[in-house]
Amino acid sequence: MTIEIKTIQPFPAQRTALVTGAGAPRGIGRRVVRKLVAEGWHVAAADIDGAAVEEFFATELNAEIPAESGLKVIGVGVDISDQASVDAAFARVDAELPQLVALVNLAGIPSPHSILEITSEIWDRVMNVNGKGTLLMMQAAAQRMIDGGIGGRIVNTSSITALDGGGTFSKTGYAAAKAAVQGLTRGAARELGVHGITANVILPGPIDTDIMGGTLTDDRKDSMSANIPLHRVGQPEEVAGLISFLVSEDSSFVSGTSINVDGGKHMH
Ligand SMILES: NC(=O)c1ccc[n+]([C@@H]2O[C@H](COP(=O)([O-])OP(=O)(O)OC[C@H]3O[C@@H](n4cnc5c(N)ncnc54)[C@H](O)[C@@H]3O)[C@@H](O)[C@H]2O)c1
Repeated sequence: MTIEIKTIQPFPAQRTALVTGAGAPRGIGRRVVRKLVAEGWHVAAADIDGAAVEEFFATELNAEIPAESGLKVIGVGVDISDQASVDAAFARVDAELPQLVALVNLAGIPSPHSILEITSEIWDRVMNVNGKGTLLMMQAAAQRMIDGGIGGRIVNTSSITALDGGGTFSKTGYAAAKAAVQGLTRGAARELGVHGITANVILPGPIDTDIMGGTLTDDRKDSMSANIPLHRVGQPEEVAGLISFLVSEDSSFVSGTSINVDGGKHMH
């Protein structure tokens, strides 16, 4: 078999990014969607809360997009841990948007249960959403990128909790699931590179969203900031900035890497 490896594959002018976890109003996903639209991407904004993404993106965000840009954002309901749901979501993306070039997996769930508390059912859900969901989304996206013949970008989301074995909120089950996301990403980078597809994983530190049991109080932010050299928690747009680079043409030789976005908490 002869494989033609192109060093740099330019993106088509009309290209789509699929972003999961875009439902939460204060979450990272919505910030990423806004940034990618501003950078010329058509976007499929996906979430298990289908009504939230449908409504928000059909109204507010589409209204912000200049008509002359021709860009389209659609809200897509999907449970990333369910194969049939993933298949249906991709069928919509195929039908309604241009060539898929980027997948940003942000959908995830926390687990504040300690090793002695976590039940078999909770473990399965945490692994299924964070781990299997990442796999199912990558499988479907990679096939489309391969069929498109122009490579692609995959960005997955782990957490510094995977390095620490737990955090101020989430514990063992989440740490294990987010460590699995690192292994999944490295495998994807190794196996899909021949198709010009890059895969990278980000490890956010504490970010000011509602995932840790609700909106963070100033006291909680202060205690979370104690070991962070920048002495503060991060903002969703600071994660979006990193993701925007990782899905861009500029990151064409960056693959298989784990990048912390944690204010310097982990240096390696
Ligand atoms: N915020 C932080 O401090 C932080 C730190 C490290 C890692 N992360 C990770 O970053 C990602 C985004 O975090 P966030 O803070 O924006 O979280 P968030 O809770 O604000 O948003 C997560 C979104 O994922 C969606 N979701 C959950 N299960 C789903 C499923 N099965 N299918 C589809 N969508 C599903 C939720 O509905 C929600 O809209 C998550 O993977 C999270 O684990 C966050």
